[in-house]
Amino acid sequence: MEVVISSTPDEAGKLAADAIEELIRRRPEAVLGVATGSSPLLIYDELGRRVAEDSVSLAKARAFMLDEYVGLPEEHPQRYLSVIRDEFVDKVDVDPAQVSGPDGLAADLATACEVYERAIAEAGGIDLQILGIGTDGHIAFNEPGSSLASRTRIKTLTGQTRRDNARFFGGNVDAVPRHCLTQGIGTILEARHIVLVASGRRKAEAVHQLVEGPVSAMWPATALQLHPHVTVLLDTAAASRLQLASYYIETFQGKPSWQGF
Ligand code: F6R
Repeated sequence: MEVVISSTPDEAGKLAADAIEELIRRRPEAVLGVATGSSPLLIYDELGRRVAEDSVSLAKARAFMLDEYVGLPEEHPQRYLSVIRDEFVDKVDVDPAQVSGPDGLAADLATACEVYERAIAEAGGIDLQILGIGTDGHIAFNEPGSSLASRTRIKTLTGQTRRDNARFFGGNVDAVPRHCLTQGIGTILEARHIVLVASGRRKAEAVHQLVEGPVSAMWPATALQLHPHVTVLLDTAAASRLQLASYYIETFQGKPSWQGF
């Protein structure tokens, strides 16, 4: 696991965009895994700028979302498919038909999860997965107690996650759905490269557990310690509880310039 501590969230966003740009240059038809929430917004903004400047093109790329709320109507602005359209698809040149998520409106949710797993596999798997992290240590919506081998399925959101996400629902926690479909931890671990971004002091404990804690279903993000290629991009506030912060900084500063992520 490579841990990079930047002085600002902006800088972390640029590093994530560098990793994506490098992948797309190598493999224009790459499969990206995209996250919603606040954390990846700076990445999408930066990618949008680079696409506008013609320095990169996502025209041949595909993207799969991590998760979706169950039951939010199609026109709801917080339906994750709408959020990804507004925050990612509309900013870059990816083909909207090549961006998909689990169907939280399906009559048969269990089958929708299986269909989604198959779609990811048929696309050849995810080359680079962008992740945020919840204050309770979730990745995607794998809440504490999730099986570390889980696949895409229905999950119940914790009260903490619903309170955290109430800001997207006008501050009304009751408006935040109780259920979601989410890629499982086992699904996420199959991505070839995982780039997790986190900023702010509220994420510091979850980040400490992710990087330095014991692997445990109580902090689902710790499962990433089992993956051979994870990049964790932090600002100083999110890194503030890391015991080995100065070692991570020294390691990154000493990294040869030819060695990318
Ligand atoms: C979103 C997702 C979640 C968020 C996490 C952090 O698709 O899967 O795991 O990444 O809840 O959210 P923010 O970035 O809003 O703090």
